[in-house]
Amino acid sequence: MRLGVNIDHVATLRQARKTFEPNPVFAALIAQQAGADQITLHLREDRRHIQDRDLELIKELLTVPVNLEMAPTEEMRGIALRVKPNRITLVPERREEITTEGGLNVASMKDFLKDYIKPFRSVGIEVSFFIEPHTEQVFASKEAGADAVELHTGRFAHLWKEGKTAQLKEEIEKLKRAGMEAKSLGLRVYAGHGLTYQNVRDFVRELKGIVEELNIGHSIISNSVIFGIERAVKEFLNLIKD
Ligand code: PXP
Repeated sequence: MRLGVNIDHVATLRQARKTFEPNPVFAALIAQQAGADQITLHLREDRRHIQDRDLELIKELLTVPVNLEMAPTEEMRGIALRVKPNRITLVPERREEITTEGGLNVASMKDFLKDYIKPFRSVGIEVSFFIEPHTEQVFASKEAGADAVELHTGRFAHLWKEGKTAQLKEEIEKLKRAGMEAKSLGLRVYAGHGLTYQNVRDFVRELKGIVEELNIGHSIISNSVIFGIERAVKEFLNLIKD
């Protein structure tokens, strides 16, 4: 499976102080250097983490594909058509949510989305919808004209953590079914949300051959902080010791 690294939370840390560090553009370049197949970022309407300039620089400097997650609004469409990421992933967005809590309800807005994505298709930007692993959302995505779907793995992650084995098994079956249906309709199949160092191996074992790419953010950035703290402290000590 390919790995898309979501660098949003590097920007979350920067925005906590509204300063210059840590810089998500550097993080994206290092992730690319480390072998990431793609960089994913979410430009939210409230700009709580990634800023417009981060997106512009990332698109300009990176050689791996850039996947822009965004809400289907006029403002975001304008930005995306100007910056031209390799892919847009349409996600639902609520200001009060901590993270993207559910998939896009494509079935309830099929005609709107069909119209909304036309300009992307005509300039060759891949269009993916972030959906719950439900048959009706998969079929609606195809009918609306998507190239791909990203299956929401938040419920998988939650059930894995809670150790709810029977429900987890059901959720895995749902993900498999939705993924197979999407593939049979000619859609590419990606997945993400809530995947961690702990749960990702079970996911990969079960969904191999169906899901071709994962987008992972919070766990990678969290572990980067932990892996990096020893070196950061040592470097500071070097700076302040006589
Ligand atoms: N995929 C999509 C569509 C998302 O919205 C997010 C969260 O921004 C992710 C993947 C990554 O989720 P996480 O940060 O939990 O790994």
